[in-house]
Amino acid sequence: MTGTRQHVLVLDFGSQYTQLIARKVRELGVYAEIVAYDCPVDEIRARAPVALILSGGPSSIYADGVPRADREVFELGIPVLGLCYGLQNIVYSLGGRVNPSTEREYGPAFIKIIEKKPLFGGVADGSRVWMSHGDRVDELPDGLVALAMTEASPYAAIGDRKRRIYGLQFHPEVAHTEYGKQILANFVLGVAEAGADWTMGAFVAEQVESIRDRVGDDGVVLGLSGGVDSGVLAVLLHKALGGRFHAVFVDHGLLRLGEAEEVVATFRDELGMDIRPVDAGELFLSRLEGIEDPEEKRRIIGRTFIEVFAGEAKKLAKKETIKFLAQGTLYPDRIESRGIKGPSDTIKTHHNVGGLPDELPFELLEPFGELFKDEVRQVGRELGVPERVIGRHPFPGPGLAVRCLGEVTPEKLEMLRRADAIAVEEIRAAGVYDDIAQALVVLLPVKSVGVMGDERTYEYTAALRCVTTDDFMTADWYRMDPDLLARISTRVVGEVRGINRLVYDITSKPPATVEWE
Ligand code: XMP
Repeated sequence: MTGTRQHVLVLDFGSQYTQLIARKVRELGVYAEIVAYDCPVDEIRARAPVALILSGGPSSIYADGVPRADREVFELGIPVLGLCYGLQNIVYSLGGRVNPSTEREYGPAFIKIIEKKPLFGGVADGSRVWMSHGDRVDELPDGLVALAMTEASPYAAIGDRKRRIYGLQFHPEVAHTEYGKQILANFVLGVAEAGADWTMGAFVAEQVESIRDRVGDDGVVLGLSGGVDSGVLAVLLHKALGGRFHAVFVDHGLLRLGEAEEVVATFRDELGMDIRPVDAGELFLSRLEGIEDPEEKRRIIGRTFIEVFAGEAKKLAKKETIKFLAQGTLYPDRIESRGIKGPSDTIKTHHNVGGLPDELPFELLEPFGELFKDEVRQVGRELGVPERVIGRHPFPGPGLAVRCLGEVTPEKLEMLRRADAIAVEEIRAAGVYDDIAQALVVLLPVKSVGVMGDERTYEYTAALRCVTTDDFMTADWYRMDPDLLARISTRVVGEVRGINRLVYDITSKPPATVEWE
């Protein structure tokens, strides 16, 4: 795709902000893609990006075996912007001196602009920037000059106008840098003269065409969950292929109240697609009987899901000519599976339609492989997907099973469904649904004593968890209005038989996770 599309290439040196850099560039209307820091120079040349951005990274440039940019990168004639460690890379590669330092400069700083053009047009002198670095530059290479400074960093921004090589010691990609977006725009749209042609409207038109081309007269099957990614993808495929698109909706019996009916009503009745619902609740529940371990539950659900979906897809393929299986894989999933990011521990086994059996006779179709989650939402809006689908809080693949701690039983699921429905209803009524990234109710395997009327009760405890977050990698607990908390608590305990106590989860992630299992 990048062969034809104008784009910025982000070289990843391991910064936690690398994805953010690509997203911020895309927000300027210019497509950006991430590659590993050691992407061969020939490949960079062949991709012909309009600009290169070197990400930050956790290393010290003089340490052994640390990622360093290939010197030739600076001789390609392509504009380069190095951020933080990227700046140190430039200085190191072009013959300046970086001083290893044990002290970190972390947090806000205020820049004094030395040269307004080309990076600081429209940026207020004295505005806040966000620093996070250890080593500092002592001596600039020939040809580079200081463009801005802060109290602690004489070389907060450096550049060589002739070679169009620039470096920033701070992070323009994070929101704490007041004029970060303007600075990136000055580089991407100004220095690199990129045209802003990355719009979701253009993306949709391009994808419809390319899906039609690739699929020809064949058919496509998709596992629909009702969530944002698979929902928007279904609408895109339906638009491109009409009746040759088929969606299988596996109801694993672990969905929220009314959710299965709603998925069918939305996608079949309202949007007119071919949806094949499979009611597999009993199978899933029977396999989960007696299982308490969270990972074991996830594995069973994952395996059973694939089995049911594959069975249905095969049945369908007997009647229709289906050559493709569509998946809502997103850009971050692809980057991680390509191993650009360092390996991280498996905290939870996430189950999506990911590991399908090899024997399935389909080719994979992943039209969202270039998108970030917020871009999928924009595509959805572009396609007229109902806002209640696009704006929904995420819901995990294993469903309520990971919110029903310990063994999953039909009785517990019923309590959970009703408590969850009350919480969401009250949160919506209070007008704060969109302020919360995810709201959920968890049923604990704990009974406690209460009193109702004049009677002693001995029933289950439920927990309400509401978080705010940008990316779900970290999250904070939502500071909920106490009156709203009170309404939810009164209704859950009053209306859901079997629950006599509601607690509110006030733990951030980390150290906790969003789901309890
Ligand atoms: P955790 O609990 O890991 O959750 O902090 C982060 C986000 O991921 C969702 N989640 C899942 N989504 N399959 C999914 O599709 C899963 O197995 C799964 N587990 C957690 C969770 O709801 C939250 O939005």
